[in-house]
Amino acid sequence: MYKFVIKGGKPLKGKVRVSGSKNASLPIIFAAILTEDAVISNVPDLRDTRTAISLLTDMGFEAEFEGNRLKVAKGTNIKTEADYELVRTMRASVLTLGPLLARFGKARVSLPGGCAIGARPVDLHLKALSKLGADIRIEHGYINAVAPGGLKGAEVVFDFPTVGGTENLLMAAVLAKGKTVIRNAAKEPEIVDLACALRKAGAVIEGEGTDTIEVEGVESIGTIDYTVMPDRIEAGTFVACVAAAGGELVIEEFPYDVLGAVIDKFKDAGVTIEKVDEMTVFVKSNGRLVGTDITTEVYPGFPTDMQAQFMAAMCLADGVSIIKETIFENRFQHVLELQRLGADIKIEGNTAVVRGVEKLIGAKVMATDLRASASLVVAGLAAENTTEIYRIYHLERGYENLEKKLSALGADIERVKSDRPY
Ligand code: UD1
Repeated sequence: MYKFVIKGGKPLKGKVRVSGSKNASLPIIFAAILTEDAVISNVPDLRDTRTAISLLTDMGFEAEFEGNRLKVAKGTNIKTEADYELVRTMRASVLTLGPLLARFGKARVSLPGGCAIGARPVDLHLKALSKLGADIRIEHGYINAVAPGGLKGAEVVFDFPTVGGTENLLMAAVLAKGKTVIRNAAKEPEIVDLACALRKAGAVIEGEGTDTIEVEGVESIGTIDYTVMPDRIEAGTFVACVAAAGGELVIEEFPYDVLGAVIDKFKDAGVTIEKVDEMTVFVKSNGRLVGTDITTEVYPGFPTDMQAQFMAAMCLADGVSIIKETIFENRFQHVLELQRLGADIKIEGNTAVVRGVEKLIGAKVMATDLRASASLVVAGLAAENTTEIYRIYHLERGYENLEKKLSALGADIERVKSDRPY
């Protein structure tokens, strides 16, 4: 096991490039199940993308992953099963369900277990796929689904615009017979990326990015040949680092147009963010931040995946910030760790009241989930003395070479062997 050792208080300076999006890569990797072959570029080399690839190879697909390019080819003997050992390490594995059902008429996918940030059931995924004619049973911890005659297009109205549910249904609908209309669909940019990848391969999809997606089923699709969008959460995390630690950065591959809510809030807090060109921004700290409120919402609102990093920056702001989490019910686990660094935060239900302090002071802290880990890095970069972050395997699920990128920007951060069993 490894930990981060950060000697904080060093402003960041230089140029950094954002990696490909984890949350866009995962469904596009699983969409390869729908095809004979796929070439997916700009796939970040992460624990989660490696897990997705292992799921495919375990099913009998051939995969070659080199230099952020993933090639997938369908093997001859496909096992339509996603095993518990892999699924339990990554909830997004449930996204194999829709494509397996659509392509092979059956799927056996382990039910994802509990999750640090909330209950996160998959009931909406199952309900949606049932509407397309799948017969789904939960047996021995597995989702057993069959559609012997193939899936049939239908109108599906989601009770909540679930990101994963929309992706699962979209992939299933591509090969279903007839037309599927997805209402109250999630509008996240990663869904748009998935739809673009599928359409480029021959799928007939309209309306992605709005709350109604229409899919006209086709017999088969061709090669998926696609370059994944940059990671908007990694991009936002770099902004949070500058906001908290100070300095100025040029950030390349910055998906400006899909980060509106995050950019606006950091600007409200006093950070300069200027577009240099289509995919490059200049970010500069202007000294102490101003306390700023956020409420997490579905896209295009403020993303829940940026809540922890934004909170870490607000710990040092002048004034009070009210941070409301509406997407997940248990996503404040970073608060106790930020308090160990001297932050003044009170939780009342789904709201955190952050009273900015003049300084944070380094301590040993524990990462509890992916974005919570990132918030501890943000705080550690700004804190005086040394911060040691344990359990960074959470962080490695979703950030490619974060410590190397930050070191190159002048941060004093090292990834070293942990002195603990975690
Ligand atoms: C995806 C992202 C995650 C992000 C989240 C919200 C990936 C791999 N993960 O997760 O990083 O934080 O979107 O933007 O892309 N829900 C149900 N039943 C369901 C499905 C969801 O009750 O069947 C609830 C969840 O418990 C949660 C809320 O809906 O409270 C949002 O979940 P959802 O949009 O599905 O998020 P994920 O796809 O899991």
